[in-house]
Amino acid sequence: MDIKNICILGAGNLGTRIALQAALSGFDVVVYDIEQKALDFSLTTMQKILSHLHRAGQIREDIDASFPAKIRFTLDPQEAVRDADVISESVTEDLEVKKKVWRQFGAIAPEKTIFTTNTSYLLASMFAEESGRQEKFCAFHFHDVFYSRVVDIMPHSDTDPGIIPILEDLGRKLNQVPIILKKENPGYLFNTLLLALLGAAAKLLNREVASFQDIDRAWMVNFHMPMGPFGIMDSVGLDTAWHIISALPDRHSQAFAALLKTYLDKGKLGEKAGEGFYSYPNPEFKKPEFIM
Ligand SMILES: NC(=O)c1ccc[n+]([C@@H]2O[C@H](COP(=O)([O-])OP(=O)(O)OC[C@H]3O[C@@H](n4cnc5c(N)ncnc54)[C@H](O)[C@@H]3O)[C@@H](O)[C@H]2O)c1
Repeated sequence: MDIKNICILGAGNLGTRIALQAALSGFDVVVYDIEQKALDFSLTTMQKILSHLHRAGQIREDIDASFPAKIRFTLDPQEAVRDADVISESVTEDLEVKKKVWRQFGAIAPEKTIFTTNTSYLLASMFAEESGRQEKFCAFHFHDVFYSRVVDIMPHSDTDPGIIPILEDLGRKLNQVPIILKKENPGYLFNTLLLALLGAAAKLLNREVASFQDIDRAWMVNFHMPMGPFGIMDSVGLDTAWHIISALPDRHSQAFAALLKTYLDKGKLGEKAGEGFYSYPNPEFKKPEFIM
C-alpha cells in the first residue's frame, strides 16, 4: 500500500508534531480538531518548531516558517478524512473521548484507511472496536517526534499482521526508529520505564523529601540529562500527565494527581501554556547555574 495522505486527529502537542514531521517527509497532511483555537495553536507551534530546527541546523534552508501553509487545517471531519490512507489519532488521553472519536471516524473513513492511535497509556484494544474495523487498527505511538524518535508499533489481538510492515515503513519515512511490540503493554517500552521514574519523583515531592528543582537536579547532574522528571512532565503537558496519573489507583499516584490538579486549575499546563512547574520559554533548569 502506497501511503500518501495522512489525517491527524487532535491538533495538540503531539498531533502538531506528527503533522509537521509528516509534511516535512513529503506526505499530504490534514489536521483536524474540534476547536479553532487548537488549530491556531498548532500552526503557531509548527512555526516555532521550524525555527528551532533551523537554529539547530536540522532542516533544509528553503523550508521556512511559511511551510505549515502547505498543511491543511480543518474543523470538518468529512474533509479531514476524505482521502486518508492513514489516520493518526492524538486526541485527549481519555477513554471516552477516544471511543467517541473512533465511532465518528470509523463511520466516515474510506475503506482503505489504516487506523492508528497515539495513546500513551491506554490500550488500542480498549477502543479499536468502536471504529468498526479493529483489524485495521494498531497503536502507532510517537514520543516527541523531533528529538525522541522511537515510534512504537503495538498490534492488539485482532490487528491484521499485514499492516505492521506498512507502519514500519511509514515510521522510517517519518524519520523515526520503529519498534514492534509482541503484545499489548500499557506504556509500551519507554513509557513503562519513564513512568517508574516520574512516579518515584512524585513520591519524593509528595513526601516533601526535596524540592522539585532538587529532584530534577539530582537526575540531570548524575545522568548528564537536559531535564529532570518535573521538566519532562512540563514538556509532556501537565494535563496529559494528570490524565495518566489520575487513572492509577495507588495512594501515591492519587496524591500526586491531586497536586497536579492544583496546577491545572491555575491554567499551568506546562511548557505549552508558558507555565507548569517551571516558567517558559526560559525555564531555570536550562540555565547553566542550575546544575552548578
Ligand atoms: N504530550 C506528549 O508528550 C505525548 C507523547 C506521546 C503520545 N501522547 C498522546 O497523544 C495524545 C494527545 O496528547 P497531547 O499531549 O497532544 O494532548 P493535547 O491536550 O495537547 O491535545 C489534544 C487535542 O485533542 C483535541 N480533541 C479533544 N477532543 C477531540 C475530538 N473529539 N475530536 C478531535 N480533537 C479533539 C483537543 O482540542 C486538543 O487540541 C494522547 O493520547 C497522549 O497520550 C502525548
